Amino acid sequence: MAEQPSTAVEPVLVVIPTYNERENLGPITRRLRDALPKAHVLVVDDGSPDGTGELADELAAKDELVHVMHRTSKAGLGAAYVAGFDWALERDYAVIVEMDADGSHAPEDLPRMLAALEDADLVIGSRYVPGGHTVNWPASRKLISWGGNFYSRMALGAKVKDITAGFRAYRRQVLEKINLGNVASAGYCFQIDLAWRTIEAGFTVVEVPITFTERQVGDSKMSGSIVREALLRVTKWGLRRRGTQLRNLVRR
Ligand code: GDD
Ligand code: MN
Repeated sequence: MAEQPSTAVEPVLVVIPTYNERENLGPITRRLRDALPKAHVLVVDDGSPDGTGELADELAAKDELVHVMHRTSKAGLGAAYVAGFDWALERDYAVIVEMDADGSHAPEDLPRMLAALEDADLVIGSRYVPGGHTVNWPASRKLISWGGNFYSRMALGAKVKDITAGFRAYRRQVLEKINLGNVASAGYCFQIDLAWRTIEAGFTVVEVPITFTERQVGDSKMSGSIVREALLRVTKWGLRRRGTQLRNLVRR
């Protein structure tokens, strides 16, 4: 039985991981503050050489709802989010949002995502449900994304259509329960890892359509090693799942 989603969907913390996003951070923060005036923002910067961290400090000095976490070196999207989530759980946020800094995720979609969270524990901003889109993505990225989603769904038996999506809203109860302390996914497979843990823990996951627009400024941090990590880990989780199914079958 799925657990009943519980109570309030505020206060909200939006966690934005950054690595070399100096030109994107100002615009995205402004849009976010317009779209969700009461939400707090936590920028998690991995010591960006381009000065993103310093800019984040300037924004925080002018706006008490903006907070900054400085980490010493680039340790991956997953590690940055785990650190940001720990920070959130030490405080009283009811909802923790994941959002990219580069404008690919529209802050204007958040009110709709938070409304959906009233009947869910995790809301995923999804490119692959009816009404969802990607704009300006090269064919190579579409293929990686499609392949990653297809393979993960097959290996894990998960029904989520966009399991690699990076635009999400979690109820704090989910993050409290899924044991962030042993999340080892450094790269983008962090997204698959957390969706899978959330499903396995019996929480309700809902996808709402969004349009993902490729960044205009700066570079994606996607790399071959990120893809390899995802492939290896998803295969391992999938085999573990099959092993458990087999043991249960034999025991009956
Ligand atoms: N702190 C920190 N450390 N931030 C990082 C790191 C890191 O090592 N790597 C990436 N980021 C930040 C970027 O600065 C950006 O704000 C966000 O994470 C997303 O990074 P991108 O490099 O722009 O990701 P993408 O556009 O290739 O991929 C997006 O789509 C994928 C789904 O196909 C992301 O949303 C992924 O999470 C998602 O899996
Ligand atoms: Mn991006």
